[in-house]
Amino acid sequence: MLITKALLWGQKELNTFERPRLEAEILLAHLLACKREELVLKHIEDIDFGAYKSIIDRRKRHEPIEYITNSVSFYKYNFFIDKGALIPRPESEILVEKAIELIKRYNIKSVAEIGIGSGALSISIAKECSVNIVASDISKDAIKVAKHNIKSFKLEDVVEVKECSLLSCIERPELLISNPPYIDPEFKLDKNVLDYEPHTALFAPNKGRAILFDILDTIKEKNIKYAICEMGYDQKEPILEYAQTIDLDGKIEIYKDYAQLDRGFVYIKEKDENK
Ligand SMILES: C[S@@+](CC[C@H](N)C(=O)[O-])C[C@H]1O[C@@H](n2cnc3c(N)ncnc32)[C@H](O)[C@@H]1O
Repeated sequence: MLITKALLWGQKELNTFERPRLEAEILLAHLLACKREELVLKHIEDIDFGAYKSIIDRRKRHEPIEYITNSVSFYKYNFFIDKGALIPRPESEILVEKAIELIKRYNIKSVAEIGIGSGALSISIAKECSVNIVASDISKDAIKVAKHNIKSFKLEDVVEVKECSLLSCIERPELLISNPPYIDPEFKLDKNVLDYEPHTALFAPNKGRAILFDILDTIKEKNIKYAICEMGYDQKEPILEYAQTIDLDGKIEIYKDYAQLDRGFVYIKEKDENK
Protein backbone atom coordinates (compact mmCIF):
# COMPACT_ATOMS: atom_id res chain seq x y z
CA MET A 1 0.00 0.00 0.00
CA LEU A 2 1.20 3.52 -0.80
CA ILE A 3 1.90 5.96 2.02
CA THR A 4 -0.87 8.39 0.99
CA LYS A 5 -3.43 5.59 0.95
CA ALA A 6 -2.18 4.11 4.22
CA LEU A 7 -2.49 7.47 5.95
CA LEU A 8 -6.07 7.93 4.79
CA TRP A 9 -6.86 4.41 5.99
CA GLY A 10 -5.14 5.00 9.38
CA GLN A 11 -6.94 8.31 9.85
CA LYS A 12 -10.30 6.64 9.23
CA GLU A 13 -9.52 3.78 11.63
CA LEU A 14 -8.66 6.29 14.38
CA ASN A 15 -11.61 8.61 13.76
CA THR A 16 -12.90 8.24 17.33
CA PHE A 17 -9.67 9.82 18.63
CA GLU A 18 -9.18 13.57 18.98
CA ARG A 19 -6.43 13.91 16.35
CA PRO A 20 -6.79 10.95 13.96
CA ARG A 21 -4.63 12.34 11.13
CA LEU A 22 -1.82 13.36 13.45
CA GLU A 23 -1.81 9.99 15.19
CA ALA A 24 -1.94 8.09 11.88
CA GLU A 25 1.10 10.10 10.76
CA ILE A 26 3.04 9.66 14.04
CA LEU A 27 2.49 5.89 13.94
CA LEU A 28 3.46 5.58 10.28
CA ALA A 29 6.57 7.72 10.80
CA HIS A 30 7.47 5.45 13.72
CA LEU A 31 7.05 2.37 11.51
CA LEU A 32 9.18 3.87 8.75
CA ALA A 33 11.74 5.21 11.26
CA CYS A 34 11.49 8.70 9.79
CA LYS A 35 10.29 12.14 10.88
CA ARG A 36 6.59 12.91 10.41
CA GLU A 37 7.45 15.77 8.03
CA GLU A 38 9.42 13.33 5.86
CA LEU A 39 6.31 11.27 5.07
CA VAL A 40 5.34 13.64 2.23
CA LEU A 41 8.72 13.12 0.60
CA LYS A 42 8.21 9.38 0.73
CA HIS A 43 4.69 9.54 -0.69
CA ILE A 44 5.21 6.92 -3.35
CA GLU A 45 6.92 4.40 -1.10
CA ASP A 46 5.20 1.09 -0.49
CA ILE A 47 4.69 0.19 3.17
CA ASP A 48 4.26 -3.06 5.08
CA PHE A 49 0.51 -2.80 5.60
CA GLY A 50 0.35 -5.72 8.07
CA ALA A 51 2.83 -3.98 10.37
CA TYR A 52 0.96 -0.65 10.12
CA LYS A 53 -2.36 -2.34 10.81
CA SER A 54 -0.96 -4.01 13.90
CA ILE A 55 0.16 -0.70 15.47
CA ILE A 56 -3.08 1.04 14.47
CA ASP A 57 -4.95 -1.84 16.17
CA ARG A 58 -2.89 -1.34 19.35
CA ARG A 59 -3.84 2.33 19.37
CA LYS A 60 -7.51 1.44 18.74
CA ARG A 61 -7.33 -0.62 21.95
CA HIS A 62 -6.29 2.65 23.65
CA GLU A 63 -2.66 1.79 24.23
CA PRO A 64 -0.87 5.12 24.83
CA ILE A 65 0.92 6.29 21.70
CA GLU A 66 4.11 6.78 23.78
CA TYR A 67 4.28 3.05 24.56
CA ILE A 68 3.73 2.15 20.89
CA THR A 69 6.44 4.50 19.64
CA ASN A 70 8.71 3.99 22.70
CA SER A 71 9.16 7.73 22.87
CA VAL A 72 7.92 10.55 25.09
CA SER A 73 8.56 14.25 24.98
CA PHE A 74 9.14 15.82 28.41
CA TYR A 75 10.53 19.23 29.33
CA LYS A 76 13.14 19.93 26.61
CA TYR A 77 13.91 16.35 25.61
CA ASN A 78 12.69 13.08 24.13
CA PHE A 79 13.01 10.01 26.32
CA PHE A 80 12.77 6.30 25.70
CA ILE A 81 9.70 4.81 27.38
CA ASP A 82 8.07 1.40 27.69
CA LYS A 83 5.39 -0.23 29.84
CA GLY A 84 7.86 -0.69 32.69
CA ALA A 85 7.62 2.99 33.61
CA LEU A 86 4.95 5.64 33.96
CA ILE A 87 4.68 8.06 31.02
CA PRO A 88 5.99 11.35 32.47
CA ARG A 89 3.24 13.99 32.56
CA PRO A 90 3.46 17.66 31.51
CA GLU A 91 2.58 18.87 35.05
CA SER A 92 5.77 17.25 36.37
CA GLU A 93 7.70 19.78 34.28
CA ILE A 94 6.61 22.31 36.93
CA LEU A 95 8.43 20.22 39.55
CA VAL A 96 11.53 20.18 37.33
CA GLU A 97 11.43 23.96 36.91
CA LYS A 98 11.00 24.48 40.66
CA ALA A 99 13.89 22.13 41.38
CA ILE A 100 16.20 23.96 38.94
CA GLU A 101 15.26 27.30 40.53
CA LEU A 102 15.93 26.01 44.06
CA ILE A 103 19.23 24.35 43.08
CA LYS A 104 20.49 27.57 41.53
CA ARG A 105 19.25 29.84 44.32
CA TYR A 106 20.77 27.77 47.16
CA ASN A 107 23.76 26.38 45.26
CA ILE A 108 22.56 22.85 45.96
CA LYS A 109 24.96 20.07 44.98
CA SER A 110 23.21 16.85 46.05
CA VAL A 111 19.76 15.74 44.96
CA ALA A 112 17.83 12.53 45.58
CA GLU A 113 14.70 11.39 43.78
CA ILE A 114 12.23 8.89 45.22
CA GLY A 115 10.65 6.87 42.40
CA ILE A 116 12.73 7.72 39.33
CA GLY A 117 10.48 5.87 36.83
CA SER A 118 11.69 6.69 33.31
CA GLY A 119 14.35 9.07 34.65
CA ALA A 120 12.80 12.07 32.88
CA LEU A 121 12.79 14.32 35.98
CA SER A 122 16.30 13.58 37.24
CA ILE A 123 17.79 13.70 33.73
CA SER A 124 16.10 17.02 32.89
CA ILE A 125 17.48 18.52 36.12
CA ALA A 126 20.95 17.06 35.55
CA LYS A 127 21.04 18.60 32.06
CA GLU A 128 20.44 22.09 33.49
CA CYS A 129 22.42 22.09 36.74
CA SER A 130 25.75 20.93 38.07
CA VAL A 131 24.52 18.43 40.67
CA ASN A 132 24.85 14.80 41.63
CA ILE A 133 21.61 12.86 41.74
CA VAL A 134 20.92 9.51 43.39
CA ALA A 135 17.48 8.05 42.78
CA SER A 136 15.52 5.10 44.09
CA ASP A 137 12.75 2.95 42.69
CA ILE A 138 11.16 -0.29 43.86
CA SER A 139 10.39 -1.40 40.29
CA LYS A 140 13.07 -3.35 38.40
CA ASP A 141 11.28 -2.58 35.13
CA ALA A 142 11.26 1.16 35.78
CA ILE A 143 14.94 1.06 36.76
CA LYS A 144 15.72 -0.60 33.41
CA VAL A 145 14.02 2.27 31.56
CA ALA A 146 15.77 4.90 33.72
CA LYS A 147 19.18 3.30 33.13
CA HIS A 148 18.52 3.17 29.38
CA ASN A 149 17.78 6.92 29.36
CA ILE A 150 20.68 7.82 31.68
CA LYS A 151 23.02 5.98 29.32
CA SER A 152 21.67 7.61 26.17
CA PHE A 153 22.07 11.06 27.75
CA LYS A 154 25.61 10.04 28.84
CA LEU A 155 24.84 10.91 32.46
CA GLU A 156 26.11 7.71 34.13
CA ASP A 157 28.53 9.76 36.25
CA VAL A 158 25.83 12.18 37.36
CA VAL A 159 22.62 10.21 37.92
CA GLU A 160 22.80 6.96 39.89
CA VAL A 161 19.83 4.62 40.38
CA LYS A 162 19.36 2.23 43.28
CA GLU A 163 16.67 -0.35 43.89
CA CYS A 164 15.08 0.32 47.26
CA SER A 165 12.10 1.93 48.91
CA LEU A 166 12.06 5.68 49.63
CA LEU A 167 15.60 6.76 50.68
CA SER A 168 16.47 3.57 52.57
CA CYS A 169 19.60 3.04 50.41
CA ILE A 170 20.45 6.70 49.86
CA GLU A 171 22.33 9.15 52.06
CA ARG A 172 20.75 12.41 53.13
CA PRO A 173 20.56 14.77 50.11
CA GLU A 174 20.29 18.55 50.29
CA LEU A 175 17.24 18.43 48.01
CA LEU A 176 14.70 15.62 47.79
CA ILE A 177 12.35 15.46 44.81
CA SER A 178 9.55 13.03 44.14
CA ASN A 179 6.50 12.43 42.02
CA PRO A 180 5.27 9.46 44.04
CA PRO A 181 2.24 7.26 43.45
CA TYR A 182 -0.60 9.29 44.98
CA ILE A 183 -3.84 7.99 43.44
CA ASP A 184 -6.54 6.51 45.66
CA PRO A 185 -6.93 2.81 44.67
CA GLU A 186 -10.72 3.39 44.64
CA PHE A 187 -10.43 6.11 41.97
CA LYS A 188 -11.74 5.11 38.53
CA LEU A 189 -8.94 5.89 36.11
CA ASP A 190 -9.33 5.98 32.32
CA LYS A 191 -8.80 2.62 30.62
CA ASN A 192 -5.76 3.83 28.69
CA VAL A 193 -4.01 4.52 32.00
CA LEU A 194 -5.39 1.65 34.08
CA ASP A 195 -4.80 -1.08 31.48
CA TYR A 196 -1.31 -0.01 30.43
CA GLU A 197 0.61 1.99 33.03
CA PRO A 198 2.28 0.25 36.00
CA HIS A 199 0.02 0.23 39.05
CA THR A 200 3.00 0.57 41.44
CA ALA A 201 3.56 3.97 39.82
CA LEU A 202 -0.04 5.10 40.23
CA PHE A 203 -1.70 3.88 43.41
CA ALA A 204 -0.89 4.22 47.09
CA PRO A 205 -2.86 2.96 50.10
CA ASN A 206 -4.67 5.24 52.53
CA LYS A 207 -6.57 7.16 49.79
CA GLY A 208 -3.33 7.67 47.87
CA ARG A 209 -1.65 9.37 50.83
CA ALA A 210 0.61 6.60 52.20
CA ILE A 211 3.80 7.37 50.25
CA LEU A 212 3.31 11.14 50.55
CA PHE A 213 3.21 10.67 54.34
CA ASP A 214 6.29 8.39 54.14
CA ILE A 215 8.05 11.18 52.27
CA LEU A 216 7.20 13.71 55.00
CA ASP A 217 8.50 11.21 57.60
CA THR A 218 11.70 10.81 55.54
CA ILE A 219 12.20 14.59 55.36
CA LYS A 220 11.94 14.76 59.15
CA GLU A 221 14.00 11.67 59.96
CA LYS A 222 16.83 12.59 57.59
CA ASN A 223 16.65 16.27 58.48
CA ILE A 224 16.42 17.22 54.79
CA LYS A 225 16.65 20.94 54.02
CA TYR A 226 14.73 21.17 50.75
CA ALA A 227 12.06 19.02 49.14
CA ILE A 228 9.70 19.27 46.19
CA CYS A 229 6.96 16.72 45.84
CA GLU A 230 4.03 16.27 43.48
CA MET A 231 0.62 15.34 44.94
CA GLY A 232 -3.06 14.98 44.03
CA TYR A 233 -5.26 18.06 43.60
CA ASP A 234 -7.21 17.16 46.76
CA GLN A 235 -4.30 16.25 49.04
CA LYS A 236 -3.26 19.68 50.35
CA GLU A 237 -5.16 19.44 53.66
CA PRO A 238 -4.04 15.88 54.58
CA ILE A 239 -0.43 16.81 53.79
CA LEU A 240 -0.46 20.00 55.87
CA GLU A 241 -2.22 18.19 58.73
CA TYR A 242 0.24 15.27 58.65
CA ALA A 243 3.22 17.65 58.65
CA GLN A 244 1.77 19.23 61.79
CA THR A 245 1.12 15.85 63.41
CA ILE A 246 4.75 14.80 63.01
CA ASP A 247 5.93 18.25 64.07
CA LEU A 248 7.81 18.91 60.86
CA ASP A 249 9.47 22.28 61.24
CA GLY A 250 10.09 24.48 58.21
CA LYS A 251 7.80 25.93 55.61
CA ILE A 252 5.53 24.04 53.20
CA GLU A 253 4.26 25.95 50.18
CA ILE A 254 1.66 24.40 47.91
CA TYR A 255 2.01 25.02 44.17
CA LYS A 256 -0.56 24.74 41.40
CA ASP A 257 -0.51 23.05 37.99
CA TYR A 258 -1.44 24.49 34.58
CA ALA A 259 -5.15 23.91 35.36
CA GLN A 260 -4.76 25.92 38.60
CA LEU A 261 -5.24 22.79 40.72
CA ASP A 262 -3.09 22.15 43.78
CA ARG A 263 -0.37 19.84 42.44
CA GLY A 264 2.60 19.76 44.77
CA PHE A 265 4.53 21.23 47.65
CA VAL A 266 7.89 22.86 48.19
CA TYR A 267 9.44 22.32 51.60
CA ILE A 268 12.16 24.57 52.94
CA LYS A 269 13.53 23.84 56.39
CA GLU A 270 15.37 27.05 57.01
CA LYS A 271 14.31 30.63 56.58
CA ASP A 272 15.14 31.89 53.09
CA GLU A 273 17.92 34.33 53.98
CA ASN A 274 18.99 34.76 50.35
CA LYS A 275 15.69 36.32 49.34
C1 LIG B 1 4.28 8.39 39.59
S1 LIG B 1 5.67 7.43 39.15
C2 LIG B 1 6.84 8.72 38.80
C3 LIG B 1 7.92 8.31 37.85
C4 LIG B 1 8.80 9.48 37.36
N1 LIG B 1 9.52 10.09 38.46
C5 LIG B 1 7.93 10.52 36.66
O1 LIG B 1 7.59 11.54 37.28
O2 LIG B 1 7.57 10.29 35.50
C6 LIG B 1 6.18 6.83 40.73
C7 LIG B 1 7.42 5.94 40.75
O3 LIG B 1 7.70 5.62 42.12
C8 LIG B 1 8.04 4.25 42.23
N2 LIG B 1 7.75 3.85 43.61
C9 LIG B 1 6.57 3.44 44.16
N3 LIG B 1 6.72 3.22 45.48
C10 LIG B 1 8.02 3.51 45.77
C11 LIG B 1 8.78 3.47 46.98
N4 LIG B 1 8.25 3.11 48.13
N5 LIG B 1 10.09 3.81 46.93
C12 LIG B 1 10.66 4.20 45.73
N6 LIG B 1 9.98 4.25 44.57
C13 LIG B 1 8.68 3.91 44.59
C14 LIG B 1 7.21 3.57 41.15
O4 LIG B 1 7.76 2.33 40.79
C15 LIG B 1 7.27 4.62 40.04
O5 LIG B 1 8.37 4.41 39.18
